[in-house]
Amino acid sequence: MTRYAEPPRADVGVIGGSGLYQLVAGGTAVEVSTPYGRPSDPVTVGQVDGRTVAFLPRHGADHRFPPHRINYRANLWALRALGVRQILAPCAVGSLTTALAPGTLVLPDQMVDRTSGRACTYFDDGAVHTSFADPYCPNGRATVVAAAREIGVEPVVGATMVVVEGPRFSTRAESQWYARQGWQLINMTGHPEATLARELELCYTPIALVTDLDAGVDAADAVSHAEVLRIFAVNVERLREVLYQAVPALPEPSNCACARGHQDVPLPITLP
Ligand code: ADE
Repeated sequence: MTRYAEPPRADVGVIGGSGLYQLVAGGTAVEVSTPYGRPSDPVTVGQVDGRTVAFLPRHGADHRFPPHRINYRANLWALRALGVRQILAPCAVGSLTTALAPGTLVLPDQMVDRTSGRACTYFDDGAVHTSFADPYCPNGRATVVAAAREIGVEPVVGATMVVVEGPRFSTRAESQWYARQGWQLINMTGHPEATLARELELCYTPIALVTDLDAGVDAADAVSHAEVLRIFAVNVERLREVLYQAVPALPEPSNCACARGHQDVPLPITLP
């Protein structure tokens, strides 16, 4: 393990999804220990256009952690401990509607949690109820939308993402039921990642890349993990370009409500 007298600091974090395992070339790999155990991998701290970024592959660089085995608490804690205040979180998602075809980039604005049994809070002792009506940072979303447009990518803005426990994909009946609720996207990692980010008063912006039509959509084929990874790989360079454009453009997290989720309660983290 590399130990640092003074670990590098970063104010922006990027949590890479399936197929995005590296972002900054020549960065410093930092092993961060947390009260919750080890994050998915060492965090790479490097520069993107003058901004210091901490990159962490959600599933580990070799994709060894399935969604239900990711140590979300350690991942978010590690980033916050390095100084991160805003997180961009690319993720692979299924589409619950033919209106969102594979390859589409979507900036969700709502989330529905259908996971079960995941460690989803830092506040295990004491009654702390974090405000979460708007789970994602409006400034982060606006920044990513502008950044994507800057490089000629037109994202879909606003969608509800249902997060399922997995690791299996949904049945056709489940998928049709989700679609009937009016939800547009489905994924397995969006919760508790966003929830924990809010508890740490972080701005959090998911960047969803549609990799498949879910099983209930218009007699779509059964979803396969191989296809999810294939479509993500086809689009990953475009996603990387959006991130390179968005990271330096992120404003300071001052005029959004993300850092005011549990106003009177001290942060659950002791920062180094
Ligand atoms: N991630 C990518 N595609 C998905 C799908 N169809 N269901 C759940 N998670 C996904």
